[in-house]
Amino acid sequence: MAGNWKMYKTPAETIEFFERFRGLVEQATHCEIAIFPPFTSLAAAVEMAKGTRIRIGAQNIAWAKEGAFTGEISGPMIAAAGASHALVGHSERRQYFGETDDTVLKRTQAALEFGLTPIVCVGERLEERESGRTEDVLSSQFAKGIGGLTAAQFEKIVIAYEPVWAIGTGKTATPEIAAEAHRAIRAQAQLKFGKDAAAAIRILYGGSVKPDNVRALMGQPEIDGALVGGASLDAASFASIVNF
Ligand code: PGA
Repeated sequence: MAGNWKMYKTPAETIEFFERFRGLVEQATHCEIAIFPPFTSLAAAVEMAKGTRIRIGAQNIAWAKEGAFTGEISGPMIAAAGASHALVGHSERRQYFGETDDTVLKRTQAALEFGLTPIVCVGERLEERESGRTEDVLSSQFAKGIGGLTAAQFEKIVIAYEPVWAIGTGKTATPEIAAEAHRAIRAQAQLKFGKDAAAAIRILYGGSVKPDNVRALMGQPEIDGALVGGASLDAASFASIVNF
């Protein structure tokens, strides 16, 4: 269960969140919990998550180790901050910051090289779904953004299916629609990396996941977890998603 805070929460707000959240998920051993704060709140989150099962991740990662890349943060820097995960290729990065399948692949490889677990995001836009191109888009994103990994690298990633039309809109994909897309992604994984690897890969659903719809989504065997935006900002709400 992953919480993507996007561009919300200062270090002080991060501390406040964890003071409430920690106790609420103490008993949650059925899943991994990861929170992705903005870079400037990583240190506060890592500190507050000490001694708990909560893992911390960055929302993006540079493809290089270091260098003249103004505005970027590298894998070794993220790891040194105490984080263990990184989001890659979120649709907001693709839409507003020119992220492509090619840079998604490079960032994913960098995360793995520096010992971080990448959560690689894929998903179709509304017009792509409406014109019946969902599966084509997913397979192209898979082929170009994930297909370039080695089998050993593929085993270590997590995939998030996030239909762009469901993000922050309150329009969740129905559990059936989400499961269908997850099956399409898993089919791509099987073609490229084989049956066992495809069965083992974790695919999270993201897009307007809330306390009141998480149970039905998680009821689909195809859906292995959730990547939660808006509803992860409130401790009680994200805790009730974790404890679905
Ligand atoms: P949302 O965002 O839950 O607010 O729709 C999901 C995401 O962007 O990861």
